[in-house]
Amino acid sequence: MRLSNPMEQALNEQLYEELGSFYIYLAMAADFSAKQWPGMAKWMELQAKEELGHAMRFYRFILERGGQVRLKALPQPQESWETPLAAFSAALAHEQHITGRIHALVELARQHKDYPSEVFLQWFVTEQVEEEAQLEPIIHRLKLAGDHPPALFILDRELAAREEEGEEEE
Ligand code: FEO
Repeated sequence: MRLSNPMEQALNEQLYEELGSFYIYLAMAADFSAKQWPGMAKWMELQAKEELGHAMRFYRFILERGGQVRLKALPQPQESWETPLAAFSAALAHEQHITGRIHALVELARQHKDYPSEVFLQWFVTEQVEEEAQLEPIIHRLKLAGDHPPALFILDRELAAREEEGEEEE
């Protein structure tokens, strides 16, 4: 079943959004690195890598369904965040935005009776729950730490322990 034009367009939009997410998190990683927060930088680098994995899922799916991949120029991301809390809060707001986009895509797939796309998107529905759930405790800890450097150093060390996930868990 070849992709309909509206689905092809919407999936390309999401490919663009996922690449945009990669760019935002890579910018956050670079900012953390420059500000000597190696754990937070590593966490964001892995987050960026996951987003590239998400983008590639859309890329491959569009091609598998006989669609055309259309790549657009990405917006330049913000380069600096005032505090770690500001960066992680922006990351959560961004994920909430992505969750809304994924849900809208599921709706569109249903409207078009595009069952393969609906099944494909289920992975992202679950992933978005995880994406938001992993950010919330970090933000909570950052709020508790406030401007207290020792607490921030401990959190930075903990975030350095994030492991790269396998292809299936991206
Ligand atoms: Fe690709 Fe963070 O959602």
